[in-house]
Amino acid sequence: MPVKKNQLGKVEKSFLLPLTEIKKIIKNFHGEMEKGLANKKSSLRMIPAYVAKPTGEERGKYIALDLGGTNFRVLELELKGKGRMSPPEEKKFILEKKYTIGEGRDLFDFIAKCVKDFISTRKIAQGEKREIGFTFSFPVKQTGIASGILVNWTKDFSARGVEGRDVIKMLGDALKRSGIGHIKVSALVNDTVGTLVARAYQDSNCDVGLIIGTGTNACYEESITKIKKWQGAKKTGEKMIVNIEWGNFNRLPLNRFDKLLDDNSLNPGRQTLEKMVSGMYLGEIVRLVLRDCGLCGFSIAHSFKSEYISRIEADNSSDLRDVKAFFRGCGLGSLGLDERKMIKTICRLVTLRAARISAAALAAVVTKIDPALSKKHTVAIDGSVYEKHPGFSSHMHQALKEIFKSKVNRLKLVLAKDGSGKGAAIIASLA
Ligand code: BGC
Repeated sequence: MPVKKNQLGKVEKSFLLPLTEIKKIIKNFHGEMEKGLANKKSSLRMIPAYVAKPTGEERGKYIALDLGGTNFRVLELELKGKGRMSPPEEKKFILEKKYTIGEGRDLFDFIAKCVKDFISTRKIAQGEKREIGFTFSFPVKQTGIASGILVNWTKDFSARGVEGRDVIKMLGDALKRSGIGHIKVSALVNDTVGTLVARAYQDSNCDVGLIIGTGTNACYEESITKIKKWQGAKKTGEKMIVNIEWGNFNRLPLNRFDKLLDDNSLNPGRQTLEKMVSGMYLGEIVRLVLRDCGLCGFSIAHSFKSEYISRIEADNSSDLRDVKAFFRGCGLGSLGLDERKMIKTICRLVTLRAARISAAALAAVVTKIDPALSKKHTVAIDGSVYEKHPGFSSHMHQALKEIFKSKVNRLKLVLAKDGSGKGAAIIASLA
């Protein structure tokens, strides 16, 4: 079907995010952060993480569990002080769908079985203890360093009987059922918090942790006196990390594709920012646009993966021959050069908007900590979209440059690979 050029023009317009819009997002983000911190109704939950930054002098061997993506991981590492740690030894377990969307009890039994399996391979002397940190990458209302209630599942998890319950208690019960009830989990950690803490262990300027992968979220270091809803002691000068749960931010300009995606999602009305930014949804947005423009035959929802966008955008040949090969390989016949160019343009529009929204939200977080950007800040980032999506990180940098001009140099964005696991181990040591 021939593509209507004016149609593409309209689509293009609906994905643009000029600086004026970015500034509005920053302002609204600040408003939602304040409300969340004061326990008022807000799309940002602003969850106190019951932990502050490490000193870098923590030592010892720790185990971390990591749940939140396609695999479940167990790892062990040794903290050596002076910001040094041994490379983690880890084991990955494929997390089958029957666990992520089945009975919650089965999911936790599976996790316990993996922990048992991992521990049996380690040389842990009799009487020797290992603290365990559990990275659980979902919105959890923490009630302590080692307790927290799952508010709601996100991404593609929907295991029954877990929402509204204490996930550490559920894990503890499963460990008992597996015959390893003596193993105690001493810290519950969001992946963003793990990422911040892992980087802060070696870099004291790090005060923001960010994930842009299957899901997206950020955390930052806040003065305890500013966390109005914090019920505990509030010593001036004391700080605590706050899990923003920014994926749920909803004061964003939505176009008709966003609305369609939301209507057909598992969680309509929720995780609005996540649906515009994260790897779980970018492919689906592109698919909806392609379908609207009569450009391709991916008729089943979520059949166009975010990785395809990466492949299409990575093709820099003048005749887009890899794009051609890709569509042919999918059994969709041969597309003309004009069509291939348009497909690439659509992918770029979706990626660019995602990166600019991420930059806007990040700018809001950094200016919440330091409005005039008077000091240096390291932002630790992990996640497949930031790491692997061609152009994503440079689009983000570009947007930050537009926002902060020359002061952008005070921000250092670093890829913090596998921070969530390492961070959970460090937090276990703090607990
Ligand atoms: C979850 C967050 C998590 C993020 C990145 C989101 O869907 O709500 O808790 O940090 O994904 O994994």
